Amino acid sequence: MGEINFFPDNLKVQNQKIILRLDLNVPIKNKIITDDTRITACLPFIKSLIKKKAKIIIISHLGRPKGVKDPELSLKPIYKYLKNALNTNVYFFTGNFDDEIKEKFSYLKEGEVMLIENIRYFNEETEDDENFSKILGSLGDIYINNAFSCSHRKQASVHNITKFVKKNYAGPLLKKEIEAVNLVIKNKKEPVTCIIGGSKISTKINVISNLISNVNNLIIVGAMANNFFVYKNLRVGKSLIEKNVEEIIENIYKKAQANNCEILIPQDCIVGKNFGGEGSNKNLDEIRDDEIILDIGINTIKNINKKIDKSNTVLWNGPAGYFENDNFSKGTLSIAENISKNTAEKSLISILGGGDTLAAIKKSKIKLSFSHLSTAGGAFLEYLEGKDLPGIRVLK
Ligand code: 3PG
Repeated sequence: MGEINFFPDNLKVQNQKIILRLDLNVPIKNKIITDDTRITACLPFIKSLIKKKAKIIIISHLGRPKGVKDPELSLKPIYKYLKNALNTNVYFFTGNFDDEIKEKFSYLKEGEVMLIENIRYFNEETEDDENFSKILGSLGDIYINNAFSCSHRKQASVHNITKFVKKNYAGPLLKKEIEAVNLVIKNKKEPVTCIIGGSKISTKINVISNLISNVNNLIIVGAMANNFFVYKNLRVGKSLIEKNVEEIIENIYKKAQANNCEILIPQDCIVGKNFGGEGSNKNLDEIRDDEIILDIGINTIKNINKKIDKSNTVLWNGPAGYFENDNFSKGTLSIAENISKNTAEKSLISILGGGDTLAAIKKSKIKLSFSHLSTAGGAFLEYLEGKDLPGIRVLK
């Protein structure tokens, strides 16, 4: 399979209709955008296309409305945001995709923007429907996918649409995301350390498996680590665990040994009686039946930070504890602050991904800097697994 067709900076696009697939799937509460990270990441490219006098048609989804026009999942707040942020006319298309669709878009002038209402209001989107893709494709001369975070979805505006547009490209944001992950799995600067957290090992097993053969150290944190404690016959009280994962863990250790990858799990932790309360630091053999493991302990933080200090590349996905409660966010924030320090002072290559990880590090009181923050969740993990993502395959 060939190389990805990246959008050339010098391509003349004046008066060309560009269909731009973005991921504007941002959290919205009571019609207010509560985190605009994904939108701000998209703005520079939209602005550059406006400057080049293209006619820009933006497609995005929001949530999973399953073909129902749920007003809670309308892109209207995002439309208002774009209207404020972009110095041009921005329109909002809320109609249907029928035979007169092209006429409905014909008034778009050079340098103007049309945002299409939540594309998942139409079942045909998630079904990757040929006819729907053809109608979408008929709207533009050029298609650009700048939504790495949606590229694991085989859906009309990411996948089949490319059959019906003459020129298809990957946008700069997608390029940046791919280049960042490639720094870990292809063009890596060793030693490479991966920190994987979160709650479910079964959802990340393929990523872990692929990482083992690519990295030098694999650090398991978060509720996922509880399963490793149980595997080692340690008691975890009321902590979250998954059933029937012994074989998965055994295979992780076997593969790690065969690939010379060191697996690190926490050796102490912070436990609490409930998610909302306070915590105390305990060794793993001290956990009582009524306690829950909610963060990594002081010695574990020290050990992880030593590994980070000795690494040239760090990839991190998934928080170390229940960071939503400040009493259990110390592990996650200490790791974040040390990765940031090494990035700034020792040119560590640091790549962070996943919605929870990004939400967690926002709690830090100091300004953090990383080589790359991926706004992608599922796509980031699937790409790390080594999968050929459907939305990227069609751009090759
Ligand atoms: C995401 O939030 O990871 C992307 O927007 C994809 O959303 P989805 O998981 O609903 O396809």
